[in-house]
Amino acid sequence: MLRLYVVFLIGSLVFGCSDLGLSLWEDSESDQANMPSERWYSKQQVQDGSTIFEENCSDCHGPQAGGKAANWKQKLEDGSFPPPPLDGSAHAWHHSRSVLLGVINDGGFAYGGKMPAFKDVLKKEEKLAAIAYFQDFWDDETYHQWEVMSGAR
Ligand code: HEC
Repeated sequence: MLRLYVVFLIGSLVFGCSDLGLSLWEDSESDQANMPSERWYSKQQVQDGSTIFEENCSDCHGPQAGGKAANWKQKLEDGSFPPPPLDGSAHAWHHSRSVLLGVINDGGFAYGGKMPAFKDVLKKEEKLAAIAYFQDFWDDETYHQWEVMSGAR
């Protein structure tokens, strides 16, 4: 009889706990869906990236990575594309961080593009800071979509 009682007690404790655990977990799940994702970069990287971007990228990609061409989807006369904005309004957010790094390293010459290669021009930290800089213009929804599709891989 005592034994049965103990089993019952332990059982209700376990169930009690897991109930509590489950509801806590559910709460944090629903919060997470509404909360902005935590960004992979620091404020310092964004700050460093702003100088790097101004010195190396904004001539083509525009101030604040907003692009310069009236329509970045419209090919130029020579068949290449104008530099797209990188501020989340074009499609840079379709690419994982390693793909973005690859574009910056290799540029676009191999594909008939005009983006110069920065492999030997900038250090890896500098390229990551430049990415952090333009990603910081992405709103939370764009950043979240990016994380779901590819993200900081
Ligand atoms: C001489 C102009 C020029 C400079 C300087 C330049 N880019 Fe580009 N960039 C382009 C062009 C043009 C494209 C489109 C692909 C192509 O034609 O090579 C591009 C494409 C990109 C893309 C891919 C965007 C997408 O939506 O797929 C990224 C990312 C990028 N550049 C980042 C940078 C960064 C970061 C710098 C500075 C370190 C930089 N670029 C400097 C011209 C430039």
